[in-house]
Amino acid sequence: MAHRDHYLFVCTNRRSEGHPKGSCAANGSEEVLDQLKEILAKTGASRTVRACASGCLDFCGVGAAVVHEPEHVVYGHVARSDAGEIASAAAAGRTVERLVIAR
Ligand code: FES
Repeated sequence: MAHRDHYLFVCTNRRSEGHPKGSCAANGSEEVLDQLKEILAKTGASRTVRACASGCLDFCGVGAAVVHEPEHVVYGHVARSDAGEIASAAAAGRTVERLVIAR
């Protein structure tokens, strides 16, 4: 497989229920990742954008967290319904400003 222009690293870390740090998986990140992969495949954008599962990105309090590289931005509070916008922005080399919590 070829190196992609863009990577979307989706934290799928899961901690036990009641853990004080919480976790992205508890906030639906696995569904976000599945939806991103499905959209990227359907639209053909998977040729240039790859969505990958990641371990903890240290943004646990604002999960689901997604890092977009090489733009080097962090998206927070990402929901499954945001996946289409994130995928199309990455394919166009843009970011989704309303979701950016760090850069
Ligand atoms: S659990 Fe997702 S950033 Fe830490």
